[in-house]
Parts: sequence; C-alpha cells; structure tokens
Amino acid sequence: AKTTISVIKADIGSLAGHHVVHPDTMAAAAKVLAEAKSKGIIVDYYITHVGDDLELIMTHRKGVDAPEVHEVAWNAFKEAAKVAKELGLYAAGQDLLTDAFSGNVRGLGPSAAEMEFVERPAEPVIVFMADKTEPGAFNLPLFRVFGDPFNTAGLVIDPKLHDGFKFEVYDVIGGKYVIMNLPEEMYDLLALIGTPGRFVVRRVYRKSDNEIAAVVSVERLNLIAGQYVGKDDPVAIVRAQSGFPAVGEVIEAFAFPHLVAGWMRGSHFGPLMPVSQRNARCTRFDGPPRVVALGFQIKNARLIGPADLFDDPAYDETRRLAQTIAEYMRRHGPFMPHRLGPEEMEYTTLPAVLQKLQNRFVEAKLYEVKGPKVKTELLHE
Ligand code: F6R
Ligand code: MG
Ligand code: MG
Repeated sequence: AKTTISVIKADIGSLAGHHVVHPDTMAAAAKVLAEAKSKGIIVDYYITHVGDDLELIMTHRKGVDAPEVHEVAWNAFKEAAKVAKELGLYAAGQDLLTDAFSGNVRGLGPSAAEMEFVERPAEPVIVFMADKTEPGAFNLPLFRVFGDPFNTAGLVIDPKLHDGFKFEVYDVIGGKYVIMNLPEEMYDLLALIGTPGRFVVRRVYRKSDNEIAAVVSVERLNLIAGQYVGKDDPVAIVRAQSGFPAVGEVIEAFAFPHLVAGWMRGSHFGPLMPVSQRNARCTRFDGPPRVVALGFQIKNARLIGPADLFDDPAYDETRRLAQTIAEYMRRHGPFMPHRLGPEEMEYTTLPAVLQKLQNRFVEAKLYEVKGPKVKTELLHE
C-alpha cells in the first residue's frame, strides 16, 4: 500500500498580534485529528506551529487531494478558529476564507503540500514550515538541494543521484506549470525561479525513475482572495537518503539565510532564519521570516519523530548572519529594496497616494520615452 503525507496549514489566529499560535487552538485541532485517527481516516498525525501558523502533519492511505483528509484538516482549523475567537486571539479565523467546504482546502485559505509514495525500508522525510514569507522562498534552497553540486555532494558522487532531477515549476499568476530537467536545463530553470513571486518550484522528481522527491505548497492567498489577507506562509516536504540527497545535504541549503519576500505586513525583504521549534515565533518587525525543519522516519504510515533539525549550534552562525542582514535591511526603512516593489506590495497604499496626488502632478516631458515599455497601470488605478 502506498503512504501519503499531507502537510496542511492555516493561520487561524494568534497570541499577541501575529506572533505565535496559542496552545489551546492546537489542542482543539488535535482533538479533531485524534478522532480522525480513531476512525481510520488518517493513520498518524503531528501538530505544531511556526509563528502564527497552525501546522497539521498527517499520514494516511488515501492519496493526494483526498476529500476525507482535507475535510479533517478543514474541521480541525474550524474548531481551532472557534477557540481563537473565544479567546479573542488576533486575526481569529484569518485564513478560512469561506464557510462552504467542498472537498478540498485548496482555494479556501489553508495551504497544502502532499506526496504519495511506496515506503522504502527506511523512509526519512523532512517537513519544512516557514512563517512571514511566500512559497517561492523555497526556490533557492530546493535548487541548491537538487541541482547544485556545491551543495549536494551526492549529485557528483552517488550514482543514484547522478542523472539529476526534474523540477515542476508552477506559474502562480498564469495558473500553469512546466517540467524542466536538471542539469541540462539549469540556466532556463534559474531564469524562471529567480522570480520567486511568480514561478514557484512545486514538485521535484528523481529523473531516473520519476520518484517524487519534494513538494511545496504554492497557494498565494492574496491572489485567491483578491486582496491582502495575510502572507502565504509555505510548507514543503522533502524525502532524503538512499537515492535522494542526505538529510545533511537537504538542510545544508538553509545554512545561507537568503532574502525572501514577506516579513512585516507581507511587504518587506528579509533573511530566512532557520530556527528550532522553540524559537518558531516572530518578534522583530514581525519576523524575521523563519523556517523550521522537522525530520521524521515514516514506517507503515506512522510518523516516527520528529527531530528538530535546526535546533543545533551548527546553525548559530546562519542565525547570526540573518540578524546582521535583518539589521542592515531594516535601516532602509520604507525604501526599496527593503520594501517590496509596487507589483508585490500587498498593503498597498500606493495607488491611493498616487490618486490623491493625481491633479498635482505637473506635465514635464524632458524626452520621448521609447525604450522598454513603462508599466503605467499603477499610475491610473
Ligand atoms: C505579515 C503579518 C504581520 C501583519 C502586521 C499588521 O504576514 O502577518 O506582519 O501584517 O502585524 O497586521 P494588522 O494589519 O492585522 O494589524
Ligand atoms: Mg497572522
Ligand atoms: Mg503566518
């Protein structure tokens, strides 16, 4: 029988602003999952949080996009949101955009990453969960894990990895995807995924046998809701060892705290800081953006673990660098490139400001603009 791991998350409200999930809401979700387990809908689960995001890690036999499993997750979030409302938690129910569940959480607010596979005799899996950032935040590390021999020694040394991997890149605005082969198409791939707000690595497969290696949640909430309703804090699942990159190669990609979009008001670039579960809460300027990595062994669809992989002094220097970068970026205040560009701004007062000043702009053409087309929509909204 195949095993499915589903990681489904939502921000259903948090303690002291957008800082951290309240334990009572986790308990409410746990009750729903425990019941689903006793009914045999899911085999096992682990509930946790990263910042203000409630994370449900579930294993089962029902495959990807199973309505029963999605319904369990939906009910868990609803029960948790009820408690959040009772307690007066901040932004209670934030990510539950509708009352009507119809078989799948996609498009309703929560985000999901799911994969199905035949378990190997020993099946190490890493679940990554990030807060105050977007799905494209995983582009750089996943490229390094599955495409960069300077990160992953196995790409050169291990015959089982040597053929390379296939990347499925999802265009979150166009609603389409393309599958690209590495290493052959590395430069074309990078041309796309270097724009992480639009082109998101959604799945990675081992090229030699098409085995699933990684999957990322790609929902972009503001695109779904049509307005800013919170950042699309993403999750990812990565399989490791014996024919996949080693656990150490997978998490090595997070030793560099690269700049990601998100942070305060979903509108700033900041470093992605790998942290332990204990430090999975957002403070400075509502951040900086954080990522937690939990390692599990999966056995007969049971979740063994987790191991808190970034809870280690080996990541202290990464965190220190992240703080230096945070300080450096913060000094820019409202200036780009700390603040996101106009297309990416989600709390966008910009159109209103331009509107207000419309009649005060004085025509003053110094030259004819012929060059690359200047985007003017923003000026006329
Ligand atoms: C970012 C985030 C926070 C809020 C900020 C303002 O994803 O959740 O940084 O954007 O705290 O929140 P409101 O508008 O709810 O006061
Ligand atoms: Mg929130
Ligand atoms: Mg969040």
